[in-house]
Amino acid sequence: LLNDLKPSNIVAPHDLFQPERTNSRGIDLNDENTLRSLKDILNTTLPETSGDLPVINPADHKDTLTTITTSTPEVVKDAVASAITAFDSWGRTSAEHRAIILERAADLLEAETPQLMGIVLREAGKTLANAVAEIREAVDFLRYYAAQARRELNGTTPLGAIVCISPWNFPLAIFLGQISAALAAGNTVLAKPAEETPVIALKAIQILHKAGIPDDALHFLPGAGETGAALVSDERISGVVFTGSTEVAHIIQKQLSNRLTAHGTPLPLIAETGGQNAMVVDSSALTEQITRDVLASAFDSAGQRCSALRVLCLQEDSADRVLAMIKGAMDELQIGNPADIETDVGPVISADAQNIILQHIAEMRSKGFRVYQTSLPPACSAGTFVAPTLIEISDINVLTREVFGPVLHIVRYKANERASLMEKIRNTGYALTFGLHSRIDSTIQELTNASSAGNIYVNRNIVGAIVGSQPFGGHGLSGTGPKAGGPLYLRRMLAHTQALDTRF
Ligand code: NAD
Ligand code: ALA
Repeated sequence: LLNDLKPSNIVAPHDLFQPERTNSRGIDLNDENTLRSLKDILNTTLPETSGDLPVINPADHKDTLTTITTSTPEVVKDAVASAITAFDSWGRTSAEHRAIILERAADLLEAETPQLMGIVLREAGKTLANAVAEIREAVDFLRYYAAQARRELNGTTPLGAIVCISPWNFPLAIFLGQISAALAAGNTVLAKPAEETPVIALKAIQILHKAGIPDDALHFLPGAGETGAALVSDERISGVVFTGSTEVAHIIQKQLSNRLTAHGTPLPLIAETGGQNAMVVDSSALTEQITRDVLASAFDSAGQRCSALRVLCLQEDSADRVLAMIKGAMDELQIGNPADIETDVGPVISADAQNIILQHIAEMRSKGFRVYQTSLPPACSAGTFVAPTLIEISDINVLTREVFGPVLHIVRYKANERASLMEKIRNTGYALTFGLHSRIDSTIQELTNASSAGNIYVNRNIVGAIVGSQPFGGHGLSGTGPKAGGPLYLRRMLAHTQALDTRF
């Protein structure tokens, strides 16, 4: 993947005191505007669908939400033709017109927050706190790109019909983030959600159409990887926005190579992919603060965030003390039904995902690495849960790929090994998020300078980037850039980016 050479997005401790509009951990059940009532959320009516693709609640496999029809290659072909015809008129609308529609959609999303939460809770296993954050982030993307279009995109030239392919772990926020950016820039959209989470995606498409996006300017194409591959291989498309695994991004990149837009430029690919995210903690850091931030980084969302902490590097002098507190705090995590307000850690998305994670843990155990795991309550057997797990490994090199779940690896290092540790972290090839905990300014500076990650977090957790103030994305194996929710994102969706101010 191409390197995004933009400076890293360094988040300093003072950001902790900004109001966390999109990432509230606590839920205020008295806040009527946000949560009308827990009952509304749990009784959400699903959009009517039918088809061959069952959608299963990961917390309770007996609960099949609905079935969805897979988009066949013929359906994909017709949708591309329609999106290209629609581009003639949508591509000529004013940026102001597009912004107004996206802002209307944001209002509709906010008004439907409880219903949308109910869907992501059942379909994606999101806890209530994560479900609130999901809806808020989606709203923020719509408003951010609308505002940027209004400010900067008057008279700019869109590309054409853009394919947007998204993952299941942010099934509303990432899905709508990609789509709203492409639409804001004046492109038409072919949207393929993840096969695990098509219901919330359908609901989002219905809201965008209701807000005023013409039916033929935005097509909904549910299905598995084959549907995505059919879209990408269609020679008439003008670009691809992809968020998902590094492996699939490579496949798409190969498919797009040698293809040009109508303007003779390489067909753009925005790919946001995985991470092998590390946090380095020195012995000056405060144990309670480290513990709080490590738990949030590694186990929130059951570790199913691209930004999640995978490798915690502890300075040997204080490692035992820190580990003891982390293990104690892990034992306090409530694992189980995401609809329960007390739940901290919900299910992993599917039996396949669960097997991959459990196999990794078994493999690490068989190599002799020490494993610490909390226990799962009996009710967890209804779905696919993985108990939060710590694995003490000898070196970051033993990890060969991202493990997408609640598994945290621990590496110990000596004070004089910091430079080589940072080199090993860079050498993973991933560069998405990085965290550090220290109370020594020169150490903070040294580690910050030595990290190649897209988003660097100092003395805080490493998840939950906020649209607009913390543009999010990586490079190397972690993505092509530009960062989502940042000033450069919309520009990659235009035919002539050079016509724009490039000071950012
Ligand atoms: P995935 O790569 O398996 O699937 C992502 C999407 O690609 C799905 O819609 C899938 O159907 C589609 N797809 C699969 N094969 C395809 C093909 N050959 N051609 C076109 N489309 C294809 O990823 P996932 O399991 O859904 O999501 C988890 C991954 O996403 C993790 O690696 C995570 O780190 C990454 N992720 C990255 C970010 C980021 O911003 N960097 C955010 C969220 C998730
Ligand atoms: N944007 C998401 C986060 O920062 C992936 O956790």
